[in-house]
Amino acid sequence: MDALKQLQYLQTLGIPVWVPGDFSPDFFGQRHVVSEAATIADIQTAQADDKPLSVQLSDDTRTLDWDALKARVQGCTDCGLHRGRTQTVFGVGSQNAQVMVIGEAPGADEDAQGEPFVGRAGKLLNEMLRAIGFQREEVYIANIVKCQPPGNRNPQHDEALHCSAYLQRQIELVDPNVIFAVGKVAAQNLLRLDIPIGKMRGNRYSYAPLDIPVIVTYHPAYLLRSPREKRKSWEDLKRLKSLAG
Ligand code: URA
Repeated sequence: MDALKQLQYLQTLGIPVWVPGDFSPDFFGQRHVVSEAATIADIQTAQADDKPLSVQLSDDTRTLDWDALKARVQGCTDCGLHRGRTQTVFGVGSQNAQVMVIGEAPGADEDAQGEPFVGRAGKLLNEMLRAIGFQREEVYIANIVKCQPPGNRNPQHDEALHCSAYLQRQIELVDPNVIFAVGKVAAQNLLRLDIPIGKMRGNRYSYAPLDIPVIVTYHPAYLLRSPREKRKSWEDLKRLKSLAG
């Protein structure tokens, strides 16, 4: 990406960037900013605990192709969330993506449009991705659950569990180099860890069923409420970029 453009994206994100006295676009070039080697703690693999990781990928979920999986999700009534949905929100983006972004659940905008991250938080997510050189269309975006929870509450454990087989199959089909877990709900459900997000950030985890690296970051909706934390999210984005391949 053009260095100047990257600077503009960072500024849009509200991330202060130190500009040397005589600004040279090279300073913001890939070598210096985007690909900067991240200092990442040792990979931590989610430990098995007493909660099942996913509903047994019983029947044939594991063999479904994209169309069949989408159709299965569209007809799903396995948990109570289906009662409140306008439509399911399956996922969007490149089926060969290097990066898979996983959020929490559809909100009202997503429920209306049938696509994840299309509201204000989605716009910020797009800017975050662009800051490290990815267009929205180049990544794959999905959520922990495919139906909007009532009143925008967090998905409950059993709801996430029912949807986890679908998500696991989506991850299998995309086979990304790295997963970007945005927000506490995504990170905790993917990794089965009950750790506050502030403590998860900065570590590199692995999505155990498929052994794919996971970078945890704050949810863009949280960043909209707490813009001071954007600086930390920039650190996470650099880690993501370094693993994207
Ligand atoms: N927040 C999420 O976590 N996912 C969406 O799709 C929209 C908002």
